[in-house]
Amino acid sequence: MNESNISNLSQTPAIKVENIDFSWSEEANVLQSCCLEVPKGEFWMLLGTNGSGKSTLLRLLAGLLTPSSGIIKIISPVGFVFQNPDHQLVMPTVAADIAFGLVEEKLSTIEVKERVREALSAVNLLELERRPIYALSGGQKQRIAIAGAIARHCKVLLFDEPTALLDPDTQLELVQQVQNLVRNTSLTALWVTHRLDELDYCDGAFLLENGRVIEQGEPQKLKKRLLEVRDSKL
Ligand SMILES: Nc1ncnc2c1ncn2[C@@H]1O[C@H](COP(=O)(O)OP(=O)(O)O)[C@@H](O)[C@H]1O
Ligand SMILES: [Mg+2]
Repeated sequence: MNESNISNLSQTPAIKVENIDFSWSEEANVLQSCCLEVPKGEFWMLLGTNGSGKSTLLRLLAGLLTPSSGIIKIISPVGFVFQNPDHQLVMPTVAADIAFGLVEEKLSTIEVKERVREALSAVNLLELERRPIYALSGGQKQRIAIAGAIARHCKVLLFDEPTALLDPDTQLELVQQVQNLVRNTSLTALWVTHRLDELDYCDGAFLLENGRVIEQGEPQKLKKRLLEVRDSKL
C-alpha cells in the first residue's frame, strides 16, 4: 500500500452518520436528518438536554435500533458502556464476566485467559481478576464493563452517561482513564454526558438539539457556550 492510500484510510471516520431519521412513534421524529462524524482514534462527547435523543442515537450506532432513513457507517466491533453497570455485568466474578463476552468467539481456554488479562491490564485492574462483582465500587464496575469491550477487541466504544452514578472524584478518574486509553490505543470513543467539566478531556464534542447536531467541534468553545446558557437560567 502506498502512502497516499494510507493517509486516505486514516481519514475514514470511525463513525459516520448521514441524514438519519428515527421515531419511536408516529407523532414526532426523535432524530431528523441527523449527521455526525467521529474521526478514528479520537475521544468525542455528545451533549444535549434530556430527551434530545442522545441514548436513542447511541442505540442506533450500536445496531440495537434501525433508522427509518439515512446511513450509519461504524467500524466494528462496537462496545457499549451503560449508565448503570449493574445492567451490564452478569456473571459472579470479574474474570467470568469478561470471559462471558467472548463466548461467541469460540477461543481456547488459554486465549480467553490472555484476553481477560490483557483487557484488565488496559484498565489497570488486573488485581481484581478473581474479585466478585458485588464487591466492586461503581467506578470499578464501569472499568470492568470497558475491559469487557476491550477483551472483545472492540474498535469503537459508546458510553451512555457512564459517570452519572459516580461520585465526582471517581467520575474524573473514569473520564481520564478513557482519555488515556484512546490516546494509547487505536480505540475511538463517543461519550454521552451532561457534565460540562468532562469536556476538558475530549478531542471534540457535539450538541444535539431537536433531533440533529446543531454545534460541533472544539470542546472548550461548546463548554463556554453551555456555561453561559446555564448561567443565564440561574
Ligand atoms: N423505548 C422508548 N420508547 C418510546 N419512546 C422513547 C423510548 N426511549 C426514548 N424515547 C423517547 O425518545 C426521546 C429521546 O429519548 P432519549 O434518546 O432517551 O434522550 P436522551 O438520552 O437525550 O435523554 C424522548 O422523547 C423519549 O421519551
Ligand atoms: Mg439518555
